Amino acid sequence: MSMVTVEHLHKVFGRFTAVKDATFSIDKGEIVGFLGPNGAGKTTTMKMLTGYLPPTTGTASIAGYDIIDKPLEARRHIGYMPENVPLYEDLRVTEYLEYRARLKGICGKSVRQQVGWAVDRCGLEPKRRNLIRTLSKGYRQRVGLADALLGNPDLLILDEPTNGLDPNQIRQIRELVRSLAEDHTVILSTHILSEVEMICNKVIIIDQGQIKANDTPQNLTRNLRAAGRVSIEFKGDLEPVVKELEAFAPVKKVIVEGPLPGGWHHLIVRAEPGTDTREKAADIIASHHFPMRHIYRHIPSLEDVFVEMTRKD
Ligand SMILES: Nc1ncnc2c1ncn2[C@@H]1O[C@H](COP(=O)(O)OP(=O)(O)O)[C@@H](O)[C@H]1O
Ligand SMILES: [Mg+2]
Repeated sequence: MSMVTVEHLHKVFGRFTAVKDATFSIDKGEIVGFLGPNGAGKTTTMKMLTGYLPPTTGTASIAGYDIIDKPLEARRHIGYMPENVPLYEDLRVTEYLEYRARLKGICGKSVRQQVGWAVDRCGLEPKRRNLIRTLSKGYRQRVGLADALLGNPDLLILDEPTNGLDPNQIRQIRELVRSLAEDHTVILSTHILSEVEMICNKVIIIDQGQIKANDTPQNLTRNLRAAGRVSIEFKGDLEPVVKELEAFAPVKKVIVEGPLPGGWHHLIVRAEPGTDTREKAADIIASHHFPMRHIYRHIPSLEDVFVEMTRKD
């Protein structure tokens, strides 16, 4: 079942087009990494989905509710954590969350209940009585996440939840997001590609307002140019080895990287995506009785995909 359907979403600021004709859909239960360089249009897209910015043209629906025709119903299904969580410094954690719960239309006994549950889910128990002013950035992000959870929405839209955190805090927030993803659909934007590789089962790449990719991380890396790259270090005559490698069908190019200390050569063999030239390369070098100390097939990462899809050259 589709949780989010985006159709030809377009946002223009004055003369500048921030989001161009974006179309994609997200199924219930997916954890989607929304990736793109600074200024790509991630925040703008998220703000349109959450109803904070009207699209110039196009539309989207959340849990079947059109964001333009049924904005209240659509919004009720979303928990949104904005890029810079605006917090009230002089409130205590639970006071702030109770206030936020009431703003979201939660009333009576449910306020305490919902806040208690969100505090618990986000590991805020030890800080519940603390003034927000005294919290570390990591705990502030948890307050933002707890806020997004109030009302138990189906869909969490998290705009750079780990931005500005140190590596330990990033791990903690990542684990928290992973646990929230067990019973929510999640869209999170981030710069940290390893994070996406670890927790997302779908990746949407946006660049200059345009959706460039929308697939699983596995499918995105499989077909990459980098997928056929092999790196070799051997000692001996360069010329015959390079020639024989170049004569091997899947090989597209052999690049000689400057000589290494001790007379070792370093070759990069670029071949068709999805091929593996290691065995042939090792055979060639062995047939000359040259020593080899390293052979490695490059495993493309999401970072390679990101660079390939968003570079400007
Ligand atoms: N209110 C606005 N008025 C004019 N330009 C804006 C506004 N909001 C965002 N932009 C521009 O739209 C582009 C996309 O911004 P944004 O969605 O914040 O990117 P991202 O979140 O991917 O870094 C940027 O070039 C930004 O300067
Ligand atoms: Mg942003």
